[in-house]
Amino acid sequence: MTESIQTFNKSTRQLLPEIKEGLKNYLQYMKGLGYEGVALSETSLRILDEWCKETMVETLDTIQKDLGACRRCKLHKGRKHIVFGDGNPRAKLVLVGEGPGYEEDLQGLPFVGKAGQLLTKMLKAINLLREEVYICNIIKCRPPKNRNPEPDEIAACIPFLRRQIRAIRPNLICTLGTFAAQALLGTDTPISQLRGRFRTYEDIPLLATYHPAYLLRNESKKREAWEDLQKLQEVYERA
Ligand code: URA
Repeated sequence: MTESIQTFNKSTRQLLPEIKEGLKNYLQYMKGLGYEGVALSETSLRILDEWCKETMVETLDTIQKDLGACRRCKLHKGRKHIVFGDGNPRAKLVLVGEGPGYEEDLQGLPFVGKAGQLLTKMLKAINLLREEVYICNIIKCRPPKNRNPEPDEIAACIPFLRRQIRAIRPNLICTLGTFAAQALLGTDTPISQLRGRFRTYEDIPLLATYHPAYLLRNESKKREAWEDLQKLQEVYERA
């Protein structure tokens, strides 16, 4: 029984999305008429349902195209580049920061300034390369003078981040700093209380830690950040 479902599963994986959708609807219709058999079992229908969900997941490219030359909030006026995100589209770990700074705005890439250099070292300390993970931010355009993101800016931008996370389907998320943790977890709890404990975002384990820019200004917090990174490494290596 299991073997026939697996064979069925493998061969049908190659089918076009619309054929899968049609097949699923047809099988559901047959089931409604009272027919039974391997292909009409609850398991088969559940598998077909998963395929349909899989084929409906967007890619990072289509999300970026939809974002386009975004003017959904006031930050578009002062930006040089939109910083969409960078890294492995199939990453097991997604890191989410706050928003682009001066260097990121110039280059169109996340975490390439001083905080980014520290982030690269933090990743290296837990045996990870930047290319293995995916790095992005809550907002994709630099706020004037690097001020904090405002609620309307986060509201305009966060749907794209949510779609990016859904497209990547990572095993793990690490938020960097107050804004990323609070925005994804929907809370105003301070980062000092959010950090260091796993929570979930859409069923994905999420660990909040301090922002590397904060660590550059507060050396004494590096010990706690190191503890967080070790927890992240442990779960990453098991995922
Ligand atoms: N700080 C952030 O939060 N994100 C970046 O991309 C760079 C600095």
